[in-house]
Amino acid sequence: MEENPLKLRKIHHIQFWVGNALQAAEYYRRAFGFTRFAYAGLETGQRSLASHALRQGTIRLVMSSPLTADHPASGHMARHGDGVRDIAFEVDDAEAAFREAVRRGAVAAIEPHEESDEHGAIRRAAIHTYGETLHSFISLHGYAGPFLPGYREQLVEGSDAGLLRVDHVVGNVELGKMNEWATWYSDVLGFKRYVTFEDKDISTEYSALMSIVMSDGSYAIKFPINEPAPGRRKSQIDEYLDFYGGPGVQHIAMLTTDITRTVRTLGGGGVPFLSVPRSYYESMSERVGQFDERVDTVRDLGILVDRDEEGYLLQLFTKPVEDRPTLFFEVIQRKGSRGFGKGNFKALFEAIEREQALRGNL
Ligand code: FE2
Repeated sequence: MEENPLKLRKIHHIQFWVGNALQAAEYYRRAFGFTRFAYAGLETGQRSLASHALRQGTIRLVMSSPLTADHPASGHMARHGDGVRDIAFEVDDAEAAFREAVRRGAVAAIEPHEESDEHGAIRRAAIHTYGETLHSFISLHGYAGPFLPGYREQLVEGSDAGLLRVDHVVGNVELGKMNEWATWYSDVLGFKRYVTFEDKDISTEYSALMSIVMSDGSYAIKFPINEPAPGRRKSQIDEYLDFYGGPGVQHIAMLTTDITRTVRTLGGGGVPFLSVPRSYYESMSERVGQFDERVDTVRDLGILVDRDEEGYLLQLFTKPVEDRPTLFFEVIQRKGSRGFGKGNFKALFEAIEREQALRGNL
């Protein structure tokens, strides 16, 4: 396996800028089963931004809210509503990763610097990706605190739903920009083009999109990039771009090894899943053949199944988790398949479009 040129190890955390981080953190705890484990805010000496860190499996989400009108998060919220600000990577050396990324064409966002507290010191820097989204580079250097410098432990357990890791993070960009951003991930982060979906793969009567999946060499970090394709009506990507006010993270897919248990738990917590048309299940066995799960269980939970040459996958999608029709989540279980559910796109988009029509945006 080729060494990543920036020595990216993994996604360290995903930071959201939201209107009310305290309530958002509690939502992700109660609905998705995350455990709140660390906090930074006024009580810890942070005067301008309050942050609540959540974990489940190896997934770390951080909900942050500005405490002052002049913090950049305030303007970000006005423009985008709640959304993802930073997909932060753990790297061996934050300064080296930053210098190399900038040398390869990245736009600098935050210069390399040290952050420290009584538990040790980390190095951090950040570059811009699509929209107002950042990629931070964090090197930990044996840091021993509960999360990152400035945070103190604050444990509020969630009831674990079996979510294990981030499988992929999808970005929506403007029409004509998909290839540009795919090239950026290749040039700057050293990612490879993993798979491409044409508009004919992903089109319904009304709308279409195109997608390129970029991946690091180990397939541990996968970033699909979508752009709208012209259709008879407004694409779901256009709806996102209108309401987010530009490019940004569309969905975060989280991996489980027991999707029926995970979905039952999340459903019990009130996670709003997209409902799948009954007709989808009538043709399912024909399309995907035999699989391990019970057909009636899969149908009752609204889980989608797709098969390719390597195996199959089970997945389902939430509705947007904000009032703006922007960010949503995916739960995915892989049984051999390394795909993204291409065979489900049509059924799925028809379901999304029903929701779009209800919002008056189709
Ligand atoms: Fe996905």
